[in-house]
Amino acid sequence: MIFSFWILQSLLFQLLTSNGVSILTYLLTCLFLVAISVLRRIDFLVQEALDQGADVLVTSGAVQSNHCRLTASAAAREGMECYVILEERIPGSYNPKAGGNNYAFALLGAEQIHAPLGGVAPIQDDLVAQLKAEGKKPYVIPGGGSNEMGALGYCVAAAEIIDQSQALKEANGEEEKPGLFWDAIVTCSGSGGTHTGILTGLRAADIDTPVIGISVRFDAETQGNRIRGQVEACIDKYFADCDAFADGLGKDEVIILDGYVGEGYSLPTKDMANAIQNFARLESIILDPVYTGKGAAGLLAVASDGSYRQNQRILFIHTGGAPSLYHYQTLPSDLGE
Ligand SMILES: Cc1ncc(COP(=O)(O)O)c(C=O)c1O
Repeated sequence: MIFSFWILQSLLFQLLTSNGVSILTYLLTCLFLVAISVLRRIDFLVQEALDQGADVLVTSGAVQSNHCRLTASAAAREGMECYVILEERIPGSYNPKAGGNNYAFALLGAEQIHAPLGGVAPIQDDLVAQLKAEGKKPYVIPGGGSNEMGALGYCVAAAEIIDQSQALKEANGEEEKPGLFWDAIVTCSGSGGTHTGILTGLRAADIDTPVIGISVRFDAETQGNRIRGQVEACIDKYFADCDAFADGLGKDEVIILDGYVGEGYSLPTKDMANAIQNFARLESIILDPVYTGKGAAGLLAVASDGSYRQNQRILFIHTGGAPSLYHYQTLPSDLGE
């Protein structure tokens, strides 16, 4: 079950942005396992797996991957077997005895397999071959669920945002305001399905609000190419007849800020730890350190750096992930603040 609701970041924007830009958080959460972003994608992907008669889900992610936890949950719910291949992106981060996801995988009956950095593909190929040899029907969900079909989950989210924007414009007497109620949308950008889906969904509806992706792993050029490739694949497959894409995706449509990654994926930064503490203390909103914490660090910088004026509004997509906060417990004071 998914609840979507709006929270006005009153204290937060007053205290943390000097120029009066409003920030709203679009919180996409669920009752159990709280991980969200990926849930919207898995919805589509698991249905495709079921339609193809699959009986095993195979996927991959980082050691505390929200996506892997949600895939295990979806598999359990559908009575399917599940294998999660956990890539050790940071040396020493794989520990089968650690808390967090290991407990969830055991609880949900998923099998976990360790992979070194960059080593997922051969392990996955062998596993799929072995499962087929046993007469099973595996369905492979790509890391993060980020392919064209997964992105559709966030195209649907874009449609919800458009609906809610309309309602807010009417409530504020702003029916004449062109475009969305917001002047920009900020989201974190990792495997890319969230960014891809929001951007594709908005542009398909002829809405040109900037979608700013805060990279959590790659440099801006690499991540920009990933997102552009995913958007183009999504358009080719599902929006080929959409007039809004008659000229393809504009050259500057994919915006990536890569200044908030720090030393690497999942490694703490001061800005991230401060953003998590401020959201928790000022708004009672829990962020995670790998995705939304870094996304919020980027959001607060965008809202304060003069790019947006007083009375403009920024929408922050909160993609969940709270369970991993309890695995990576970094406070600002741990980083010397
Ligand atoms: C909590 C959370 N937020 C954001 C993301 C990043 O989204 P995407 O992979 O679509 O870029 C993920 C990806 O796993 C996630 O788990």
